[in-house]
Amino acid sequence: MIFAAMLAGGIGTRMGLNKPKQFEIVGDKPILIHSTETFLKVNEIDRIIVSSPEKFIDRTKELINDYFPDDEKIAVIAGGETRNDTILNSIKYIKENYSDEDHILITHDAARIFVSESLVKKSIDSVINHDAASPVMPAVDVIFETKEEGKLTDIPLRRNLVHAQTPQSFKINRFMEIYSNLNQEEIDTLDEAMMLFFLRDGDVKLFKGESGNFKITRNIDLKIAEAYLNEIK
Ligand code: CTP
Repeated sequence: MIFAAMLAGGIGTRMGLNKPKQFEIVGDKPILIHSTETFLKVNEIDRIIVSSPEKFIDRTKELINDYFPDDEKIAVIAGGETRNDTILNSIKYIKENYSDEDHILITHDAARIFVSESLVKKSIDSVINHDAASPVMPAVDVIFETKEEGKLTDIPLRRNLVHAQTPQSFKINRFMEIYSNLNQEEIDTLDEAMMLFFLRDGDVKLFKGESGNFKITRNIDLKIAEAYLNEIK
């Protein structure tokens, strides 16, 4: 089966709103609804697991029910402390409710509301012959490494750098096989599913993302998202 984990378990501290950013309205509906709507249109996906910060579970369920009443494809679960914990909670839900065969999980940041159906399908297609797959875009800025505050420690060549986006896909059994072999120090560095595969020489396929598929992170991104939505609708 193909499962989607719609990652909406974060608090959105960088946005500085009085609620998690996934509830903020862009255009005519909340951020979470924009992303979930696109995933619902992809027939290849069997189930969508929407996560939520623990104390906003009821609100998330209400929202999902308002926009997609009686949709049996969607389940709402509690997210975890970190983004990676939220992914683990989504896997746990799948393991508890479905058979143990090798399912595919496609994870997506709910805050990337302009994800296209074709990018979701590309992610699914790309993982078939690999352990995992991620869309990427060439880095636009030069990126400095600074391991010590205020000190320049490295300048990786920009032409070798890409930004990771979502939707990222992976085979769940392979993910769990690697996860169970990581030590605590490695687990603590995971803020991104692809890092886990990278740590154990997993076969990660990179494919071209989309420039519109940016993550609403800071307040200015909300304004950019509003303007972009007006442009494309
Ligand atoms: N996310 C999640 N569970 C967490 C943290 C993040 O599901 N414990 C989700 C967010 O809801 C978001 C996506 O992962 O859709 C990308 O994370 P990010 O933009 O970093 O979101 P927040 O953690 O919400 O924002 P901030 O870092 O500003 O607090």
